[in-house]
Amino acid sequence: MSDFDYDAQDYNLATRSGVSPALLAGMFPADRKAWDNDPRFLGWPAHLQRLHAAISEGSARLVGGLETVLDEPEGSVQEVMGLMGMNRLGLDLVAHVHGHHAFEDTDVLPGFLGRFPQLASAIDLLENDHQFLDQALDQSQSAFAALRNDGVAKTEVAQALEQAQRLNKIINRHTYDEEDILIPAVLNAYA
Ligand SMILES: [Fe+2]
Ligand SMILES: [Fe+2]
Repeated sequence: MSDFDYDAQDYNLATRSGVSPALLAGMFPADRKAWDNDPRFLGWPAHLQRLHAAISEGSARLVGGLETVLDEPEGSVQEVMGLMGMNRLGLDLVAHVHGHHAFEDTDVLPGFLGRFPQLASAIDLLENDHQFLDQALDQSQSAFAALRNDGVAKTEVAQALEQAQRLNKIINRHTYDEEDILIPAVLNAYA
């Protein structure tokens, strides 16, 4: 893996501002405005976007929900969290994202590499992203699991919120960039 410095600001998932053919050799240009009017988009590309939208929506809901819980009086935290499902959503999200990446690593990305060898460095970046996200998910797991404890307090909710905010940012960056890398290749292949 990695023929580029993934720790460099331009590549790292937490710091980069996007991906483009100028950054990654072999990438097809991503023209998102044209996707809506492209009939070839209504297949696997739309499916990938729906999967990503479900992940991003869950991640954003977790951030918003934990913020709401923090506005409650200390004595109501556990009950409100249970009513809103916030004691489970974080762990569900972690499992969902792990599963999504595992399938991409074993199936989707090797398939793309075989079909589009010119995407080697772009796919390398996505694999690095998955490793980076795995570490963030592992850190989040314990913070989110603590929300299920009896007598959970606001300090634990605040820690979980901090993890959820960080996850939200890097999940959105990764899924957006992954679409920019994979979808134009599919559209181009059937042009
Ligand atoms: Fe991914
Ligand atoms: Fe994905």
